[in-house]
Amino acid sequence: MNKVLVSLLLTLGITGIAHAAGNAEAGQEKIAVCGACHGADGNSPAPNFPKLAGQGESYLLKQLHDIKAGSSPTAEPSVGRKVLEMTGMLDPYNDQDLADIAAYFASQKMTVGMADPALVEQGEQLFRGGKLDLGMPACTGCHAPNGVGNDLAGFPQLGGQHAAYTAKQLTDFREGNRTNDGDTMIMRTIAAKLSNKDIEALSSYIQGLH
Ligand code: HEC
Ligand code: HEC
Repeated sequence: MNKVLVSLLLTLGITGIAHAAGNAEAGQEKIAVCGACHGADGNSPAPNFPKLAGQGESYLLKQLHDIKAGSSPTAEPSVGRKVLEMTGMLDPYNDQDLADIAAYFASQKMTVGMADPALVEQGEQLFRGGKLDLGMPACTGCHAPNGVGNDLAGFPQLGGQHAAYTAKQLTDFREGNRTNDGDTMIMRTIAAKLSNKDIEALSSYIQGLH
């Protein structure tokens, strides 16, 4: 493992991530408003709306808290995660509601898409090999070779996710528009080393990964 990755993992270990105690059945009763964009089972039909099905429960819960904090109409610019489409939408939900919703979507199964054959080779090389010359670790170190992630460590599932959504996230991390990866700035540091072409290839590869 390379040094950057080891030190990042150590930092994460110390930070620690609380485990959610959500109830999936209760969660299913609370997501009527979400289904229009994310799909009733969390497999969103539109490429710019992320699939939530099968995503890690603690990762989902963290995002829900971050989006609630960042996307309330009165949020400070530096707080949480901004999702314009979800402005104010999580305000009515308390912590238990969010835990239940996270448990529900985590209990569903994410569908897999297709990678563009023209981009697979470049995408796979970056995903599995990183960019050693620039000190960028492979994605597999945290998100696993099959893209399933590691929920206990807070590493989300990527495999099967819509390419358009993934590309937007990587671009947002790189441009500083998504900053809720914490003080360790893991994804901002990684995305800073990716060109637009790298992002396109990675996102396509990930869409077909399972
Ligand atoms: C009008 C469409 C819309 C609705 C309704 C909506 N969302 Fe979203 N949601 C989005 C978009 C768009 C994003 C991604 C924004 C971005 O590009 O960062 C998102 C992101 C998310 C994420 C982060 C996913 C990830 O992989 O990091 C979660 C979790 C989420 N939404 C949960 C919900 C829940 C729960 C509800 C219902 C209470 C809901 N959303 C309702 C559009 C919507
Ligand atoms: C050292 C661990 C680590 C490595 C290596 C890593 N990631 Fe991540 N990644 C994370 C963490 C942690 C998050 C969650 C950030 C948060 O909590 O908001 C994340 C989030 C993401 C997301 C957002 C997922 C979503 O649903 O919104 C994408 C996309 C992503 N990573 C892609 C990649 C790609 C592509 C690579 C390789 C070029 C990579 N990551 C390498 C730790 C890592």
